[in-house]
Amino acid sequence: MNSTSRELLTATEDTFKAAMRLVLQPVALLACEEQDNRITSCVVNTVFPVSVEVPSIGVSLECGTRSCKAILEAEKYWVSFFSSDESKRMHRVAAAASDDRFSEAGLPDERGLPMMTSAAVAFECRRLTEFAAFDHFIILGEVLSIRMGEDKCLSV
Ligand SMILES: Cc1cc2nc3c(=O)[nH]c(=O)nc-3n(C[C@H](O)[C@H](O)[C@H](O)COP(=O)(O)O)c2cc1C
Repeated sequence: MNSTSRELLTATEDTFKAAMRLVLQPVALLACEEQDNRITSCVVNTVFPVSVEVPSIGVSLECGTRSCKAILEAEKYWVSFFSSDESKRMHRVAAAASDDRFSEAGLPDERGLPMMTSAAVAFECRRLTEFAAFDHFIILGEVLSIRMGEDKCLSV
């Protein structure tokens, strides 16, 4: 697709994806514990602060994915942002085929919990509510605790 053209394009899946690739987006790792104690994680870029009055974060997750199902059942989950040095590991998480990608990438903390010590900033969230949005759920979480270091986070 010729993305240098200024012509008006009809919004389709392809043109929308191509346009969004031109927009700077955050990238975060979402992780929660499933009922069988396994940790589920996925990479997301649809992550955004919602309110500071009630510190809260929103994320949009595709319906039917394992991560979406797990977060909708979890009481708490972690949203972690990484420095560019750590981002390579994060992308290995995204690419890993294993059921437990999170452990495979060596990211759990010393207790094996989904709080990532290598994150530049990590937010522990309590799931508040969710809204159906086409083939996604927008999930809102109240931020309960924050862990931050000196590193700046990655934007893609
Ligand atoms: C850079 C990047 C950003 C992504 N952002 C999202 C997102 O915002 N929402 C989403 O549902 N999936 C997103 N995905 C896809 C998920 O990481 C994951 O592949 C998807 O949840 C399916 O895996 P699962 O069934 O194991 O959860 C993204 C993937 C990548 C590589």
